[in-house]
Amino acid sequence: MSRLEGRVAIVTGGGHGIGKAYAHRLAQEGAAIVVAELDGEAGSAVAQELVAGGHRALAIQTDVSNPDSVKRMAASAVEHFGKIDILVNNAAIFATVPMSRAAFDQISIEEWDRMMSVNLKGAWLASLAVIPHMRERSYGKIINISSSTAIKGSPGRIHYVASKAGVLGFTKTLANEVGAHNICVNCVAPGSTLSEESPDAGTLKMRNDAASVRALKRVQAPQDLTGAVVFFASPDSDFITGQTLVVDGGNCLH
Ligand SMILES: NC(=O)c1ccc[n+]([C@@H]2O[C@H](COP(=O)([O-])OP(=O)(O)OC[C@H]3O[C@@H](n4cnc5c(N)ncnc54)[C@H](O)[C@@H]3O)[C@@H](O)[C@H]2O)c1
Repeated sequence: MSRLEGRVAIVTGGGHGIGKAYAHRLAQEGAAIVVAELDGEAGSAVAQELVAGGHRALAIQTDVSNPDSVKRMAASAVEHFGKIDILVNNAAIFATVPMSRAAFDQISIEEWDRMMSVNLKGAWLASLAVIPHMRERSYGKIINISSSTAIKGSPGRIHYVASKAGVLGFTKTLANEVGAHNICVNCVAPGSTLSEESPDAGTLKMRNDAASVRALKRVQAPQDLTGAVVFFASPDSDFITGQTLVVDGGNCLH
């Protein structure tokens, strides 16, 4: 469990849900972790857990939709750990910062704009802030988080699905543009995952319904996604870029 020994990883949205699981798993693999989270208290709690477990970690309160905030995130990471090797663009409006799961004509323009600003522009802004540091050292691993809903289409929350479809194109284009600097850009598309800390009955039903229509008939947990992120962060994927790996237990087969 030391495939990432000596590496430094930023996980945006690492204070809750699946991002928290990425932070823990990357740390177990030896990486120093920067938890870049909008919810400052949650980010600090995750960093403290990691440090208590003997890992190197730092929390930086970050809003990925704000260019100055992500610049501070990258500068603090370099100041504290000396470099940035891995960026996981995981932050999104999803569960912790909730969205309307409404029909296309029931979504407000303000919510559409905020969705794009965090889920899509946020990945671009964080990459913009981090890539100069990766370029300097001719090394980098960027892992964007999309969603299987972007590949198969999903009724309701069209703004979320459209933002996650944008992440697919963003991944391919960025991979082409930074490949010459030995920076790999890949994407993980999770299926419906029980990431909520206190799921209500409706959420549990939704996650159970998703289990019944996949090849592997069980509820998906955050830990089901961490292996794919470690793979894209590790030397095992050094000649793989611009790819999207769907991790959903075999629902969206493409
Ligand atoms: N859970 C699922 O079913 C599922 C399925 C497909 C894709 N995903 C994706 O996986 C990722 C993690 O989702 P999750 O289920 O853990 O949900 P989540 O809502 O718990 O996680 C998102 C995290 O991002 C943070 N965040 C929100 N806005 C931010 C901002 N402006 N700046 C920085 N951080 C911000 C939140 O506080 C939270 O910690 C998201 O990108 C989500 O779209 C989740």
